Amino acid sequence: MQNIPELNPDDYSAIVFFTGAGMSAESGIPTYRGAGGIWHEYRWEEYACQDAFDVDPEKVLDFHELRRPKVLECNPHIGHEIITRIQRKHPSCWIVTQNIDGMHQRSGSRNVVELHGSLWRMRCSQHGISEDPSVRYQTRRCSICGNWLRPDITWFNDMLDAVVMEKAHNLINNAQLFITIGTSGVVYPAAMFPRLASDAGAKCVYINTETPGDESLYDIVALGKASEVLNGMFPLA
Ligand code: OAD
Repeated sequence: MQNIPELNPDDYSAIVFFTGAGMSAESGIPTYRGAGGIWHEYRWEEYACQDAFDVDPEKVLDFHELRRPKVLECNPHIGHEIITRIQRKHPSCWIVTQNIDGMHQRSGSRNVVELHGSLWRMRCSQHGISEDPSVRYQTRRCSICGNWLRPDITWFNDMLDAVVMEKAHNLINNAQLFITIGTSGVVYPAAMFPRLASDAGAKCVYINTETPGDESLYDIVALGKASEVLNGMFPLA
């Protein structure tokens, strides 16, 4: 790991941590792309889009249900904890995450915007969203209409929730410090967020085990594992 510059969160009035699957990798949750990535083992066309759900809802539900015990076997790591500690001191520190695993919340973080939804919620197309935080689905059918419930996750070809997107945009537009952690930056619209933050004048930091696609967006590029880089970057947290 390279020498990591230290940052003091007190120097910034508004902070956004923008996280992807690489943030959870050291907890033991597989990423989507790269070695061991979920989309190498499973074709998203069969498991992670509305068309697949319409064809075979039980197959898609089985796939997502199986992820629950696997996520529950994992625990937040020191990197999650560092972000949580920074949040406790700084009310205007937010997490905008693409992750659906709830790992930030399990480490005690609040102020989490879940861009791609949550593994722990279900949705009826007519009757809305319900919490379902158990290891197995409490039910696969809506208690009001009896229709299939789908995971409240943004699948491929889905639109992102407009309210969630607006919240993310506002946070990023106002951020003084914007820290991207563990995302390949290939899934839009989230992939635009570093550009948005940079254009809005935030100090932009990149943390990843691999080099960024566009290095010019970042004031600091810190290559290494999320936990190690965060530990070096925020020694006072
Ligand atoms: P990806 O799997 O596309 O990318 C993971 C990134 O994490 C890569 O850039 C890795 O280099 C990096 N990485 C791996 N281990 C790391 C570590 N220990 N520390 C730091 N970085 C590490 O995951 P996302 O970019 O999050 O959609 O994928 C975006 C979306 O695509 C996901 O939200 C998911 C998927 O389809 C939904 O679930 C709806």
